[in-house]
Amino acid sequence: MTPEEFRQAGHELIDWIANYRSTLADGPVVHAVSPGDIRASMSATPPTETLSMTAMLAELDRVVVPTMMSVQHPNYLGFFPANASLASVLGDLASGGLGGLGISWQSCPPLTEVEEVTVDWMRQLVGLSDAWRGTIHDTASTATFIAMVCARERASGFSARAGGIAGGAALVAYASDQAHSSIPKAVLVAGYGSDNLRIIKTDGPDYALDPKALDAAMAADVAAGRTPAVVVAAVGATATTAMDPVRAIVEVANKYDAWVHVDAAMAGSAMLLPEMRHLWDGVEGADSVTWNPHKWMGTILDTSLFYVRDPNELVRVLATDPSYLQSPVDGLVTQFRDWGLPLGRRFRAMKLWFHLSLDGVEAIQTRLRRDLINAQWLAGLVEATPHWRVVAPVPLQTVCVRYEPPEFASDADALDRHTLTWATAVNASGSAFISPAKLDGRWMVRLSIGAEPTERHHLESVWSTVRHHAESVPSTA
Ligand SMILES: Cc1ncc(COP(=O)(O)O)c(C=O)c1O
Repeated sequence: MTPEEFRQAGHELIDWIANYRSTLADGPVVHAVSPGDIRASMSATPPTETLSMTAMLAELDRVVVPTMMSVQHPNYLGFFPANASLASVLGDLASGGLGGLGISWQSCPPLTEVEEVTVDWMRQLVGLSDAWRGTIHDTASTATFIAMVCARERASGFSARAGGIAGGAALVAYASDQAHSSIPKAVLVAGYGSDNLRIIKTDGPDYALDPKALDAAMAADVAAGRTPAVVVAAVGATATTAMDPVRAIVEVANKYDAWVHVDAAMAGSAMLLPEMRHLWDGVEGADSVTWNPHKWMGTILDTSLFYVRDPNELVRVLATDPSYLQSPVDGLVTQFRDWGLPLGRRFRAMKLWFHLSLDGVEAIQTRLRRDLINAQWLAGLVEATPHWRVVAPVPLQTVCVRYEPPEFASDADALDRHTLTWATAVNASGSAFISPAKLDGRWMVRLSIGAEPTERHHLESVWSTVRHHAESVPSTA
């Protein structure tokens, strides 16, 4: 494709995206699609003829649009807000269009330095001190994995890098029972071994990690000859957005010289609002923090921020210096390949730069505040409705609910079946998408507010759909 052909095709694509975004609210949130339907709609053999852009877009209209979940829909209240602000989409396009090669500072100087600047802007916007330095990873899962590796190396006196981790004292990681599944995965892949992950039970009404239970678990490990290496504090745990007490966790972890990693994947966006920062009080004492602008804040995937107090902790473990990458500026510049796993990096900072510059911080903050207010409003409505209950505190934008009619009062299994049945019915209706999850071993439904276009009237409509299905599903379900 020549630049001139690209110009033509690009205009068509932009029009197509704009049309999709401006009309998606007229369609369903979820379409009926069965496993294999999409594969079956495509040729099993590679294309043998070239298509015009018009024909290519017709293929998207045929294969993708009618089958994908419309997470940009105002009635999408599923998993988490997966916003993809159009300003950041343009940044993504610009990044791809430039086609930079991010393997070293030298291979694309702006890729490194724009990232340094935008990540520092984000640091300022969430009120972290200038003691932090950061980078952009694809996901919080990657950031957490890197934190686990660095914690492992620090706890083992950097012996693990040279000699491997077998044979030394067992290194132990700690997280609450509300921690995201990326934590056990990182523990496993970083070589701690699943037996060396302590899940600290939360049983208080706020589902927060109990620092006393953490202290007891760490002391027991030390007594048994194991080495506490890392504690993960969840700021906005996945099911309920529960908030672990970061300050108290840091105090306990310091007693054992353990690394503290703050997983604020979801709640980091809230820290753009000064009035919400009390939720991660004590964060300055942590060693690393990750959060995802690609969730509620709305920068398109994959934009996950990762901050550390001391980048040397990363470089000491992750640096490589092959001859073919050496350059005269080595030692004078940041080499982000030494801060993570991949060598080749995308120009991800462009998405943040565009998002902040074209949408503006104030507009983003206004939207976040709108969602916080709407969540409190919805929680109040649920609580005021007979037989409905808000089952967890609502510190952010997620409202966890359960319909508990009297006929299920003594049969928790039947209530679970009923909850799953009505949630499935809501989703099958196409008019909203919500996510059930387990809390205290029982099913509830998460209403995760925060899609960019979701206004109060959309929530009124979703709430009426939810009530209709929950209250009309036969109790024998
Ligand atoms: C608290 C928390 N941590 C981590 C993650 C993982 O995020 P990512 O998809 O960026 O790896 C999520 C995703 O929902 C999350 O809610």
